Amino acid sequence: MENTSIQDQILIQAEHLSMIYGSDAKAVDDMSFSIKAGEIVGFAGPNGAGKTTVIKMLTGILRPVTGRALIAGHDIVKEPLAAKQSFAYVADNPDVLLQLTGLEYINFVADIYKIPEEERAPRVKDLAARFGMSDALETLMREYSHGMRQKLMVIAALTHNPPAWILDEPMTGLDPSAAYELKQMMREHAARGNCVLFSTHVLEVAEKLCDHIIIMNYGHSLYQGTVENLSAEHPGQDLEEIFLEMIRYKKGE
Ligand SMILES: Nc1ncnc2c1ncn2[C@@H]1O[C@H](COP(=O)(O)OP(=O)(O)O)[C@@H](O)[C@H]1O
Ligand SMILES: [Mg+2]
Repeated sequence: MENTSIQDQILIQAEHLSMIYGSDAKAVDDMSFSIKAGEIVGFAGPNGAGKTTVIKMLTGILRPVTGRALIAGHDIVKEPLAAKQSFAYVADNPDVLLQLTGLEYINFVADIYKIPEEERAPRVKDLAARFGMSDALETLMREYSHGMRQKLMVIAALTHNPPAWILDEPMTGLDPSAAYELKQMMREHAARGNCVLFSTHVLEVAEKLCDHIIIMNYGHSLYQGTVENLSAEHPGQDLEEIFLEMIRYKKGE
C-alpha cells in the first residue's frame, strides 16, 4: 500500500455476478458492488434473498454463471490462491469438523494458511480471551453450543489476518458480549485500512456499525449506499420500517 491512497483501494469487487441453481430462476441476478479499504459494509436482506450465494461466489465456493469476483485485485476463479490469501471467511454454518477440539480446528486452518507458530500463538490467545473461549479450546467442538462453535469459527478465520473479512451472518447465535467484541474487532480491522463485509437479516445490526449497506432481495440489489442517505430518502421512518417496505415492494414486482 506504498503510495496509493489506502482509502481508494478496492478490496472486494463483485461484477455482474449471477447464479442459477438447477433449472430454477436466478438465485442471484447481476449483483455488482465494490468495497474499499477502511469500510465496513453490511449486506442485508431477508432469508432466501441470495446473500449466502453471493458470498459463496466471492469466496470461490460457487462458480458464477456470469460475472466475476475480485479480492484485493485477484480474480477468485483465475487466481484462486492469491485471492484466498487475501480474505478470511466465516461460513453461515459452524457445524464443521466437530470431532476436533477447538484448538485442533484453529491449527488446521492456520496450517492451511501457513501462519508461523510465533504469530499464531499470541493471536489465538488474544482472540480466545476476547471471546471468552480460553478454557474451551481443548474441548471437542461436538460439545460446544452453537454460539461457541460460531465464536471458534471466527477465531480460526481471524487467526489468519488478511485484508478482507467476509462473514456470513456472524452475529447469529452470539451472546451480547461476543457480538460486542466482534463488532469492535470489525471496527479495529477497518481502521487499520482493511475491509469487512458481513451479511445479516437484521438491518439494525448494520445501523451503527456500517459505512455502507447493500440491501438485496430475490437476487437483486435494492439499495447500496449509506444508512444516512437511506434514512433521508424515507423521512419519518425508522430503519426497520424502511427495510420491510423495501422488501415488500419488490415482491410484487
Ligand atoms: N444449494 C442450493 N440448491 C438450490 N437452491 C438453493 C441452494 N442454495 C440456495 N438456494 C436458493 O437460492 C436462493 C438464495 O439463497 P441464499 O443465497 O441462501 O439466501 P440468503 O443467504 O440471503 O438467505 C433461495 O431461494 C434458496 O432457496
Ligand atoms: Mg444466508
